Amino acid sequence: MDRQYHIFSPYRVCPIGAHVDHQHGLVTGFAIDKGVDLWFDVAEGSMVHLVSEDFAGTVAFDVAVPAPVKQGDWGDYARGVLSALQRRFKLRRGITGRLRGSIPVAGLSSSAAVLIAYVMAFAKANDITLEPFEMVKIASEAEREYIGLNNGLLDQACIALGRKDHLLMLDCESNEYRLIPRNPEMPPFELGIFFSGLTRSLMGSDYNLRVAECKTAAWLVQAYENIPLKEQGKTFLREVSEQMFRRHAGEMPARFARRAEHFFGEHKRVREGITAWETGNLEWFGRLSRESCESSIHNYECGSPELIAIYEALLQTPGVYGGRFSGAGFKGACIALVDPSRKADIEKAVTERYLSQFPQYRQTFRVYFCKSDDGARFVED
Ligand code: GLA
Repeated sequence: MDRQYHIFSPYRVCPIGAHVDHQHGLVTGFAIDKGVDLWFDVAEGSMVHLVSEDFAGTVAFDVAVPAPVKQGDWGDYARGVLSALQRRFKLRRGITGRLRGSIPVAGLSSSAAVLIAYVMAFAKANDITLEPFEMVKIASEAEREYIGLNNGLLDQACIALGRKDHLLMLDCESNEYRLIPRNPEMPPFELGIFFSGLTRSLMGSDYNLRVAECKTAAWLVQAYENIPLKEQGKTFLREVSEQMFRRHAGEMPARFARRAEHFFGEHKRVREGITAWETGNLEWFGRLSRESCESSIHNYECGSPELIAIYEALLQTPGVYGGRFSGAGFKGACIALVDPSRKADIEKAVTERYLSQFPQYRQTFRVYFCKSDDGARFVED
């Protein structure tokens, strides 16, 4: 592209540690070698003009005046970033940019990828230097406070901080993170992406409801334990111990207990997963990812018949170490750690099994294989 700057902002996958970031838990993830490209020039004045190769229409706004209200189109992500940046900085320069997503797959957090790309671009245009974790926080604030999704930091952290051949481990309470290198003894693997063909924004899903259920479970445990309560919205499962939860699990409505069960189980899996990764034990790491998906299905109760069918097809396919729903897992995709020498057979077997149950997705079901990659960055064209 004939623009001055080019940012590549990767998508992310999370093999273990699903749905615990918003409760201040521990998560793991990778940035991958597919993502969003943003080519841009710094504008002479304060206007932003954006076009997308994936979405219709143009987006235009002025960075020097307060961010416009949400408009319900793809431009809201840029406006949300503007709003979060304006709380910290005075912006004077806009950009003229073009966006393109590398694969049309839901569930890989394309929303956080574009948010991080805008943070980097607006910062560049306005000579603002940001630490990587500040970018994570600004992008997250844009999504939570402007877009309205009560999510955690998983997506933005993987996208901004990820590193090729490293597993990111983030503690969403302290915001401490580690990039753990791949053990040289570990067999080679790639990341399979199995897109169900079903797309839906998390804003229309039960995502926020589940977050509220987790907080309710934490609140109930604290109330039973006579711990002084805060507002329910400011309460997180990380604040209660598993022991406390076990004492009261039977006293609370079962749906809240299931959400907490997922949280405590997922925490153990992340801890074990780190050891599995550090010791190069891919079989173990993969098994934990499968167990994480089982808990998402039975305790967290996300998923859809389509995603469950793909996950079950993966379980029966040789060469798959393990996998789970990608991201929130209400629609979108499944991910799997796979043996690269068996990719063709894996693709064939999963496609046949899935489409025999859901032939209506013949045109939209897609399989991709990718590798871990570095986080969002400027690229020399
Ligand atoms: C979505 C959210 C994340 C995280 C995952 C589930 O991707 O944006 O914050 O909660 O779902 O782990």
